Amino acid sequence: MCGIVGYAGQKNAQDILVDGLVRLEYRGYDSAGVAVIEDGTVSLARSVGKIAELRRQLAKGPLSGTTGIGHTRWATHGAPTWDNAHPHLDCQGKLALVHNGIIENHRLLREELVARGHIFHSETDSEVLVHLVEEQFRGDLAEAVRAAVRQAEGAFAIVAVHADVPEEIVGARLGSPLVAGVLPEAALLASDAPALLGHTRELCFLEDGDVIRLRPGSVELWGSDGKVKQVSFDTIPWDPLTAERGGYRHFMEKEIHEQPQAAADTLRDQLHSSEGLGFMEHELAELDQVVLLACGTSYHAGLVAEYLWEPLLGIPVRAEIASEFRYRCPYVGPKSLVVAISQSGETLDTLMAFREAKSRGARTVAVSNIVGSALVREADAALYTRAGLEIGVAASKTFTTQLVALLLLGLRLANARGRLSEEQLAAQLDELARAPGLISQALDTDKALQTLAQQYHGKSDCLYLARGLLYPLAMEGALKLKEISYIHAESYASGEMKHGPIALIDEKMPVVFLVSCCELYDKALGNMEEVRARRGDLIVLTDTDDPTVRKLSDNVIVLPKAPRPLVPIVYTVPLQLFAYHIARIRGTDVDQPRNLAKTVTVE
Ligand code: AGP
Repeated sequence: MCGIVGYAGQKNAQDILVDGLVRLEYRGYDSAGVAVIEDGTVSLARSVGKIAELRRQLAKGPLSGTTGIGHTRWATHGAPTWDNAHPHLDCQGKLALVHNGIIENHRLLREELVARGHIFHSETDSEVLVHLVEEQFRGDLAEAVRAAVRQAEGAFAIVAVHADVPEEIVGARLGSPLVAGVLPEAALLASDAPALLGHTRELCFLEDGDVIRLRPGSVELWGSDGKVKQVSFDTIPWDPLTAERGGYRHFMEKEIHEQPQAAADTLRDQLHSSEGLGFMEHELAELDQVVLLACGTSYHAGLVAEYLWEPLLGIPVRAEIASEFRYRCPYVGPKSLVVAISQSGETLDTLMAFREAKSRGARTVAVSNIVGSALVREADAALYTRAGLEIGVAASKTFTTQLVALLLLGLRLANARGRLSEEQLAAQLDELARAPGLISQALDTDKALQTLAQQYHGKSDCLYLARGLLYPLAMEGALKLKEISYIHAESYASGEMKHGPIALIDEKMPVVFLVSCCELYDKALGNMEEVRARRGDLIVLTDTDDPTVRKLSDNVIVLPKAPRPLVPIVYTVPLQLFAYHIARIRGTDVDQPRNLAKTVTVE
């Protein structure tokens, strides 16, 4: 997620802007820049990479002026390059603008602007905004911004400055956060509170549709209806680090709760993306198999896709552990579609397996959270999760957004292969659009999971059981508990228990059992009976309020009913919360668990 800072006041803007961007580094970025109004024009400094590089540039060529904007860019459209870095300028060099979010209709807007003579210098969706504001500017920057954003579709937070009105900063918000602070001697805007807390704790959080104009000591606010709005300020009690965590205790907790927005952003981006998969229809029709390559949590996402895609596509679909796939001379050829799943796009095991498959002629798709990552650069096509930066080493929002992206990809492949009509595709996409809301409902189990965690945090072992489509979720639940609480946890297909692992069951063994009314329900009940008969301590996640389930269980967490393809997404949330709260109570380093790395770039 990009970081935005704006300042107008009596001090040198450059230093305040850079310090504000440093406070937003946790949001993740791959380029940065500042623009300052100086002697009737805008002066600009941008850099690829970290803010230290920007500081080096400014040390060589400082900008002087008391009004400006700054940006750290998390690449979504266009790789991390100098041209694609923000701020973006108009052609006279008098207007500067920064943006966080996604402009869905940017292609059409760009075509229209180019036809009207505008010259673009970047590949970004954001640059259309600066040209739209330029067209609308007649001396009132707030009015120009409002008129410009009315033409844009998508999610954005923008801040703009203009050399003709050098004492003000203007912001607009729709879907991406923007917060304002005003003092007698200064006015500030930022994507998030941490950038402003060093100046003031009285902050105004803009709402969707708001446009704001700030000058030192003054603030004007208009609502989505264009009418003047009462400005309200909240007092923020947090220290900057807590503010970076959005008031949550850990980044992982924050990221678990960001999942509805992350899923919505991923859906929005994919559903409005006109980019095809880059394959000819006949290539997709002639596919003889699909292989999904990944590691860890991403492998579990691939397993969910295996269960859902094989009946949908009518050809063999298998998820492979990347580090195993590469060394067993697998069958892969020109009629294979290989989908590599990696939130970082840099996991070496996945990269090496992917390259092996590609060397055998397979067509390749990358599913990643990082624009410009190695996997994305080497694949024939790429699908992005829009989870934003995930700081917690244990995957949370990147996993559920992988499930969303893979559901979408499976539907698109089925449609391209003639296995799904346009009407059926539309119906399934409508179902998929429910994912953010269902995740929100699943998050309502947070208190119940906290209570459960109090009961189970002292355990040394835990079993996760499920059947069918839920079995990969049992694996993911066990991995989450292992990697952040250090409790030994194993997962089994519950039909497999009677073939040996059932010997583990006794009254001391917690068994997290995932059961759903839409997935082998009666078989799963039978497996629960087997556990119960050995006095296993059953913690059941279910989407039914069936008395039979309650009778068999020591603890029950009831989840919202969902269409079958969305059930894995819904069940992920309580599994994450259970592991998180147990780890929190045990006092482990939740965000940086021992021995783990966020990206494993070694084999
Ligand atoms: C998941 O919580 C772990 N952090 C780990 O298993 C991770 O999923 C795996 O290393 C793959 O990472 P990637 O998605 O970046 O390829």
